[in-house]
Amino acid sequence: MDMYDGILTTRAIRRFTDEPVTEEEVMACIRAAVQGPSGGNIQPWQFLVVTDPETKATLGDIYRRSYERYEAALLPLVPPFKREEDQASWNRTIAASRHLAEHLGEAPMLVLALMPAISMTLTDAEGDLDVGTPYASVYPAVQNLMLAARSLGIGSTLTTVYRIRQDEVRELLAIPEGYEVVALVPLGRPAGKFGAARRRPPEAVTHWNRFGEKRR
Ligand SMILES: Cc1cc2nc3c(=O)[nH]c(=O)nc-3n(C[C@H](O)[C@H](O)[C@H](O)COP(=O)(O)O)c2cc1C
Repeated sequence: MDMYDGILTTRAIRRFTDEPVTEEEVMACIRAAVQGPSGGNIQPWQFLVVTDPETKATLGDIYRRSYERYEAALLPLVPPFKREEDQASWNRTIAASRHLAEHLGEAPMLVLALMPAISMTLTDAEGDLDVGTPYASVYPAVQNLMLAARSLGIGSTLTTVYRIRQDEVRELLAIPEGYEVVALVPLGRPAGKFGAARRRPPEAVTHWNRFGEKRR
């Protein structure tokens, strides 16, 4: 598969077939993940692969209860969309998100990305040196994992709503307190199709030399 096409057609896949994801496949994805960039090349990541059906089901239940709380808080804040197509797109995303919330535990495989809760902030005589969030050293690896999955015909979604109940996730999977659970990624063959998702055009979000300067 052409790399650029693979990137453009990687979108959130929330409905999966029953076809399994193999250990070789997930290890190929993690191989791609660990090739990702990290600040100072500290590689602050661990991956936890969940295949056991009972553990997946319990994790699915934690995810569903987190999602329900998230959606209840979110929906009242969403204003009506001006364009019908935007409303339709939002409706599809919510329907797919609910589907995932109800079925996450049935996905063929679940991968969690963990990050040690260390401070990467340096200090000098002038104070703290803000060089960015430590999460920025893990999410590129997660994206690499999802792109590698795409290249194998495996769909995925980066999720974080389980963080509302992160302590339950830690307890279930024996994750030490010193680790943050940065992402939970279900993997499986798409029940639908890969394809380019709707986005604002690149020109609309690109500035040249000074903020606000656009190319026509
Ligand atoms: C930081 C982050 C957190 C996300 N959390 C969730 C989540 O908890 N549940 C979910 O269904 N999707 C989650 N998503 C997926 C986004 O909803 C999705 O990437 C976005 O809607 C674009 O989807 P598309 O590529 O299919 O258009 C998350 C994405 C990111 C980057």
